[in-house]
Amino acid sequence: MWEISPKQWRVYCGSSRPSIEKFRRRYPGVNLAWEGEPAIDWAARYQETVAPLCVGRRFVVLPSEKIESPWKERISIRLVPGCAFGTGEHYTTASCLRAWEGLPATPKSVFDVGCGSGILAVAAFLDGCPRVVACDNDAEACRVANETAALNGAGVTILTGSAGDVDESFDCVFANILAETLAEIFPDLCARVSPGGFLIGSGISSEKGTDINNIAIASALEVFDKRSDGEWWTFTWRKQSPLSAGS
Ligand SMILES: C[S@@+](CC[C@H](N)C(=O)[O-])C[C@H]1O[C@@H](n2cnc3c(N)ncnc32)[C@H](O)[C@@H]1O
Repeated sequence: MWEISPKQWRVYCGSSRPSIEKFRRRYPGVNLAWEGEPAIDWAARYQETVAPLCVGRRFVVLPSEKIESPWKERISIRLVPGCAFGTGEHYTTASCLRAWEGLPATPKSVFDVGCGSGILAVAAFLDGCPRVVACDNDAEACRVANETAALNGAGVTILTGSAGDVDESFDCVFANILAETLAEIFPDLCARVSPGGFLIGSGISSEKGTDINNIAIASALEVFDKRSDGEWWTFTWRKQSPLSAGS
């Protein structure tokens, strides 16, 4: 549906012509006109319009299999146009990658909870993390994440499920999930972080920042970094290691 002006709309109906008479009876005040148009290959048109997207200092997202990066010094993350969240355009995804760049050293293991397209997991692998596990409770997201990993030659293990379905702990855990879900699964997320490791949490709307941070503090995490665009928060919390807790 295309808004030409506040009172004029163009509605694309695919190949089946809708019943204009039925519509007229239902909305008698609306002027209706019908015209045929040649079919448009929207997928091909999308591919023509997409461009590389620089994210943070180190990454560039290539949202199509065809385009090349002009920034050879940046790590390219190639995405399959799919329906999973995580194109790099949304603040929460981009700020997770910036938070990752701010870690003191490259983590040796990463767990991406709510991986969507797989963008964060793949970025971590391509940036030198040797062990990357990702999960999503949406099977379709996992399918797309597997495709993203294959397209980038990234060795990422992808599971359908959530933070509670894994026993291991990791140097860094990503969780770009809405605040309500974060609050719900926080004990599982926290249990996945190794002592001294980091939890990068995003998807936290501005008014929920304090609540979620209080949950983190009560779970013996401390704020390492926080960033916001006024609408969303991204926190990096650090789990105390037994040594730092005792000192
Ligand atoms: C906002 S997207 C983030 C995608 C990607 N990680 C990014 O940063 O762009 C959140 C993802 O979390 C998944 N999700 C929601 N609740 C979940 C849960 N309890 N456990 C695992 N995944 C979950 C959704 O299916 C969705 O793919």
